[in-house]
Amino acid sequence: MNTSIYRNLGMELVRVTEAAALSAAAFMGTGDKEGGDKAAVDAMRAVLKSVDMHGVVIIGEGEKDEAPMLFNGEKVGNGNAPRLDIAVDPVEGTRLLAYGRPNSIAVIAASPEGSMWDPGPSLYMDKIVVEKAAGEAIDITAPAADNLHNIAQALHRHVTDLTVFVLDKPRHTKLIEEIRSTGARISLHTDGDVMGALMAAVPGTGVDVLMGIGGTPEGVISAAAVKALGGGMQAMAAPQLAAEKEALAADSTFLPNQVLQLNDLIHSDDAFFAATGITSGSFLEGVHFDRAGGVTTHSIVIRAITGSIRHIKGIHQLNPEHVFGEQTK
Ligand code: FBP
Repeated sequence: MNTSIYRNLGMELVRVTEAAALSAAAFMGTGDKEGGDKAAVDAMRAVLKSVDMHGVVIIGEGEKDEAPMLFNGEKVGNGNAPRLDIAVDPVEGTRLLAYGRPNSIAVIAASPEGSMWDPGPSLYMDKIVVEKAAGEAIDITAPAADNLHNIAQALHRHVTDLTVFVLDKPRHTKLIEEIRSTGARISLHTDGDVMGALMAAVPGTGVDVLMGIGGTPEGVISAAAVKALGGGMQAMAAPQLAAEKEALAADSTFLPNQVLQLNDLIHSDDAFFAATGITSGSFLEGVHFDRAGGVTTHSIVIRAITGSIRHIKGIHQLNPEHVFGEQTK
């Protein structure tokens, strides 16, 4: 991989997530899930046009609920090298944004062409994510209690000191009971398991493990972040919808009990991940509209090959004559 071409890519990707977050932030608390998503998609698409890359969208989140989206197979970038697979989630946590709840983010991930797992008709997957030191301790086919004991051992901690991020969904009633039986603590969230994965993979965030079933596109995006952070992750298809089950049954390439390792999801050590907060959470601040007219964003960008993690605070003067993706002056 040509490192000099690649070096600036992370910064370019942050410009993309910043634009999405800035555009979507106005929809906080409006109840308009589609409006926030569309604003973010439009801004992302516009800024992506100017990024030096020949990107193909492998994960264009949105199909699951027919939301506006950057669609799978869409070409993004200005067509120059490098050739990349792209995963986007312009608003990860559309409900969080629409109801003004914490942790909605704009996200993009990139890895070399051919290295990103294409989920086909899979919409939901079971996931487990931990930081690097516990990467070898996880086994998604084992009971949650066994995983938590092994993770605690790997981290030299007590199980009761672990905090597990779980989506608060009826499908997780049994999982929650099992986690509780170990004495581990649970952080329940209505949405946003990419943030959960990110927090689990970064040591010291207050989340030690992500467990449970969430979106498959979000799983691949999470994998890029986990890969870039050197963390541990496993996943398995866990179809929830009748149409999804039918589509998977008709797909001859689908292996129902396949455990997807991090390397299956992102088959390269050269992944990039960038996210910008839209609504504030404990890990990433959201978009702040300041009294003087400036707007502040908070982003993280991670590059796998160097292991560098950058937290970027952007202060933007929103000029009505400036349209995302093109400078009018
Ligand atoms: P959206 O941004 O598409 O609304 O996804 C939010 C989310 O909570 C993801 O973080 C998670 O992976 C998925 O939805 C879970 O899906 P569901 O809410 O259908 O259980």
